[in-house]
Amino acid sequence: MSAEDQQNLDPSKVVYETYKSEEQIGIMMKMIESELSEPYSIFTYRYFLNGWRELSYLAFYEGEMIGVVIGNLTKHKSQRLRGYVGMIVVKKQFRRLKLGRKLAQIFIDKCKELGADEVCLETECCNIAALKLYQSLGFAKVKKLMNYYLNGNDAYRLKLWFTDKVGREEIEYRQQEVLKKLQQQQEKENQAEKDQEINQEKKEQ
Ligand SMILES: CC(C)(COP(=O)(O)OP(=O)(O)OC[C@H]1O[C@@H](n2cnc3c(N)ncnc32)[C@H](O)[C@@H]1OP(=O)(O)O)[C@@H](O)C(=O)NCCC(=O)NCCS
Repeated sequence: MSAEDQQNLDPSKVVYETYKSEEQIGIMMKMIESELSEPYSIFTYRYFLNGWRELSYLAFYEGEMIGVVIGNLTKHKSQRLRGYVGMIVVKKQFRRLKLGRKLAQIFIDKCKELGADEVCLETECCNIAALKLYQSLGFAKVKKLMNYYLNGNDAYRLKLWFTDKVGREEIEYRQQEVLKKLQQQQEKENQAEKDQEINQEKKEQ
């Protein structure tokens, strides 16, 4: 698709539908595999798509599949009902048309409707597009997961709260970050003091 064709795309023609049948998995896998760094087996797709059909949305443009969001809704050990975005992808030629935002919003609204307390997801720390999208939807970073992906990249866990406990984990995460910085600062100061003492001793010798 040329840049001109992209300019002529009409986002109002995009149709959003829930996942219908196994025949759609092949096309979906092909689209997702070319856009995500992490490979997923057909069993992962079936787990999400067959288990939570009502949380699996596909976007079509003139019959072509151009975007997808899939995930689940489970009871977390904290007893909170948690929506989880497993994968969200928009085909390259269709990016920056607010389709990713729409797919994520549909997912969030459905989770809310089903009684979720929160929605959570992970994304690579270097995935600026995804981080900006999620943060603009109200998600906040709650954890950094080192070497989370097969490619060795770190991830952030982000969360959006619907019910109480709002922001507690975000605050804890921020506190940890502040504590880490303070500790590093203290270590630097201690080291500077030691260096100064050593220099003083050297001078006196
Ligand atoms: C992340 C992704 C789904 C976003 O889809 P999209 O349809 O292009 O996003 P939208 O047009 O809805 O953008 C919504 C907001 O996200 C942010 N955003 C999206 N793409 C961005 C980019 N390339 N750079 C910076 N910000 C970006 C912006 O804040 C944007 O709002 P704005 O257009 O008002 O500035 C898409 O880039 C994608 O498929 N990436 C590859 C797969 C992936 O990384 N998935 C997420 C893994 S968790």
